[in-house]
Amino acid sequence: MNTTLEKISISADDLSKFLQNKTEPLLVFDLRPREDFVEGHINGSVHAVCDARAKETIMPKIPKDAKIVLVCDDGSVSGPTAEMMQSYGFNAYFLQGGVRGWDKGLAKKNVESIVSAEELWQDMQKKREIMLVDVREPDEFSDFRIPGSMNIPLVNLFKPDVVATLPKDKKIVTVCPHGNRSMVAAFALARNGIEARGLFGGLAAWGQLLSAKEIAGDRAKIIQIRKVGKGCLSYLIGSDGEALVIDPVHPAEKYVELARENGLKIAKVMDTHQHADHVSAAKELARIAGAELFMSGYENYDFQSSRLVDGDAITIGRSEVRAIHTPGHTSGSLSYLLDGRYLFSGDILFADGIGRPDLRDKAKEFAGELYNTLQSLLRLPAHVTVLPAHHAEETDASKGVSTTIDKAKRFPILQMQQNEFINKVVGTVMPRPMNYEKIIQLNKAGGPLKNSEIPDLEMGPNRCAINAS
Ligand SMILES: [Fe+2]
Repeated sequence: MNTTLEKISISADDLSKFLQNKTEPLLVFDLRPREDFVEGHINGSVHAVCDARAKETIMPKIPKDAKIVLVCDDGSVSGPTAEMMQSYGFNAYFLQGGVRGWDKGLAKKNVESIVSAEELWQDMQKKREIMLVDVREPDEFSDFRIPGSMNIPLVNLFKPDVVATLPKDKKIVTVCPHGNRSMVAAFALARNGIEARGLFGGLAAWGQLLSAKEIAGDRAKIIQIRKVGKGCLSYLIGSDGEALVIDPVHPAEKYVELARENGLKIAKVMDTHQHADHVSAAKELARIAGAELFMSGYENYDFQSSRLVDGDAITIGRSEVRAIHTPGHTSGSLSYLLDGRYLFSGDILFADGIGRPDLRDKAKEFAGELYNTLQSLLRLPAHVTVLPAHHAEETDASKGVSTTIDKAKRFPILQMQQNEFINKVVGTVMPRPMNYEKIIQLNKAGGPLKNSEIPDLEMGPNRCAINAS
């Protein structure tokens, strides 16, 4: 070991004493692969990714006086990394001999410092007292966030006066884009005596979480699947052992799993329209389930599928789904009417609003079409249940998201005359979904796309709707 490395190395005995005595704040970063960390790690350490992104987003937030100890397998990675951090002015050290030389026992599997998106969602559903602390910068936070979270940028969590303002009676979960900054944040809080867990995989993982809810159906079983972080809604409809999926999102495997749990086999998959806010999983799901794929006959796709046009009917078990051409959100949008009783309305009509017509840069023309489409849908029987492809951010979706034609008739925006409606819709300027052009392109081409690319591409809020008022 060279002399510089010697100076910044710390023995297992010394690290153990530091961790026990807690005399000074100490950040112990484990640089090994996450699987190794989960398998066994030094109690009190946090998993850290040391890549270019971490260097840009995390390192500048860590106070220079905070004592940092890096850990790897044997010291061969952590030593040079600590040396590099020292050269940037950090108070960084590394554990001599790494985890292999650590004889004080390792914490196993149960990683107390993290919470998965699924677990967090369960806790939120049970209305547990949780405080979400989003540790991103204010400009990142203002763009989108998990509803109900508060923003304390990571750098401020190292300040005792800021930490002192946090409630003591709530479970704190720290949130960031990918789960790296939030782990440091949880650690910073732990050093101040506050227990906190970091959201594993961050907002990217949150954005991919799917939650299923059965909606009361008649002849067919209807399961509404919600992409929690995006507000996207998709449907699994089962009848006589067969299932149809409408507007599936990634990960596609979830639908196969759900179908299996309900004794169903997915036979047909369809999209209501070419989506702009999320990557469609229709093609992928049809492939893995061995199902027939149906897309709108009015839209351009670069891949093979059966095409549906207005009036086409397909069967699923004992049920029937009829396609209705409903242009306005996109010119080729279809809605699907199940057994004359349930309307899968895509992004045309929502439980508390209507679709936006401007994602294809023809707002005025599309607004006129949207008006005509909505008025024709309102002529369906009043009792028809409307099941949309999105819900608003603040919706309590615990009971499922739906409305009826009767209720939709009372939306103020649907009582307007055509001109007033068009002016209102065209005048409602809303930010567009992030990456929407790239997503449209991907959905048209049907891939290719690596599963790992989807979370970042889709990150951001649902921006497909216009409020009903
Ligand atoms: Fe859409």
